[in-house]
Amino acid sequence: MTALSVSTSSAASLRADALVVGVAKGPKGIVPAPGSETVNEAFEGKLAEVLTTLGATGAEGEAVKVPAPAGLKAALVLAVGLGEAAEGGYALETLRRAAGVAARTLAGTKKAALALPAESAEEVEAVALGGLLGAYAFGAYKGEGGKEPVGELILLAPRKGSKDAKASAERATAIAEEMNRARDLVNTAPNDLNPKGFAAIAQAAGKDHGLKVEVLDEKALAKGGFGGLLGVGNGSANPPRLVKVAYTHPKAKATLAFIGKGITYDSGGISLKPAGHNETMKCDMAGAAAVFAAVVAAKRLGLAVNVTAWLALAENMPSGSATRPGDVLRMYGGKTVEVLNTDAEGRLVLADAIVRAGEEQPDVIVDVATLTGAMVLALGNRTFGVMSNNEELRENLHTLAGEVGEQSWPMPLPAELKKGMTESTIADLANMGERMGGGLVAGLFLKEFVAEGIDWAHLDIAGPAFHESAPFGYTPKGGTASAVRTLVAFAEQTAANGKG
Ligand code: BES
Ligand code: MN
Ligand code: ZN
Repeated sequence: MTALSVSTSSAASLRADALVVGVAKGPKGIVPAPGSETVNEAFEGKLAEVLTTLGATGAEGEAVKVPAPAGLKAALVLAVGLGEAAEGGYALETLRRAAGVAARTLAGTKKAALALPAESAEEVEAVALGGLLGAYAFGAYKGEGGKEPVGELILLAPRKGSKDAKASAERATAIAEEMNRARDLVNTAPNDLNPKGFAAIAQAAGKDHGLKVEVLDEKALAKGGFGGLLGVGNGSANPPRLVKVAYTHPKAKATLAFIGKGITYDSGGISLKPAGHNETMKCDMAGAAAVFAAVVAAKRLGLAVNVTAWLALAENMPSGSATRPGDVLRMYGGKTVEVLNTDAEGRLVLADAIVRAGEEQPDVIVDVATLTGAMVLALGNRTFGVMSNNEELRENLHTLAGEVGEQSWPMPLPAELKKGMTESTIADLANMGERMGGGLVAGLFLKEFVAEGIDWAHLDIAGPAFHESAPFGYTPKGGTASAVRTLVAFAEQTAANGKG
């Protein structure tokens, strides 16, 4: 991965292949942003003029390269747009995205310096995070043709508060590295990542970071009565796993359980998905990747809270041994579910994990899942839905998401939508109900498995988990690591406040 360091050198004296500055749209044209002062001096105060000549406007997402004038030690100046000029400082998400655009544009470059606005610790963290996320490239399968990410990022911070700046950069590095690990897991081809392999990766990474990892294999799942995981996994040659990754802190006053949907490939099963564009269904384990990244990040940040991640891993395939529409599964904890559609598999593996996690009486359960196409129809490709049995928790997660740069929206769980689902003629529940509001129906199904008295929230990341169109800001094509930052922010907040 790209290395990041903090330097208090002046932008003019730093030797680098490229020097990045921010520029914004003012009422009278381009305005150079804080951090660019010495660069502008090297241009004899004409940086805005030069950029305007080249067609730059300062719009968000814009990146314009200029050969560096004498007086700068860098070879090239890259001006990235920050949008409308902001007198009171730029929004943190604007800085993350601008740094991301810069890092992405400079792929193939060895050493780049970021002279973006970075006065406060929060700004430093934003620039560092955006830079490291924007530098991400998934090269596992590319030969010579693959482009190397930018080799080294040097974040230029003012001398004042440089100790805080270093700490902020370290925080950003931990979060970005774990997010990029989640992206790698999502991007890995499904023939190279099955439940067993994912569990092995969790075990190895857990060992590296001193986390306790327990894996239930198919035998242990059968012994324990995990009918949901087994029912979804039994059509595949790659059997299911339930992985528990525990981080504990001696001063923790609260315990959070993060549960991730980990369908390493979702073919739909016997209710097979129609042909065409199903390659993206390798992303159906993005929830498991997110909770895994979050628990490792919590450990790396040393947060004073206990976090247990549960990865509900299975492959949903059709075969002679696959679950059929009409089958009844006995879930962990004893509830029975009539499977009406084998493509509604996520809720089945999650239900087992929710009951299992609930046995340990955590203060809060948050599950993360690429659960429904209906949520994508409702909220589009960049926004995840937040559902909960507790309104305050739902609003809190939505607010935290916004603060860390993730788009989310609170969604209701209207009791009347439960009707079709609870009217299975032969089992306690059916895995499908009302057609309308499918994302909420799925949420209502999960709610049935949450133990009395536990606060629970459900993040449906089916839209933002996998980015298919052109890269933007620090978001590449493919896996995005959606929800990781929200989970980490929630763990941090819980650590600070004592209880969920
Ligand atoms: N993994 C899918 C949901 C999904 C859709 C994820 C688009 C990412 C992008 C899920 O398992 C699924 O197939 N859901 C069905 C449920 C239906 C059968 C009740 C759906 O949304 O169509
Ligand atoms: Mn499905
Ligand atoms: Zn699925």
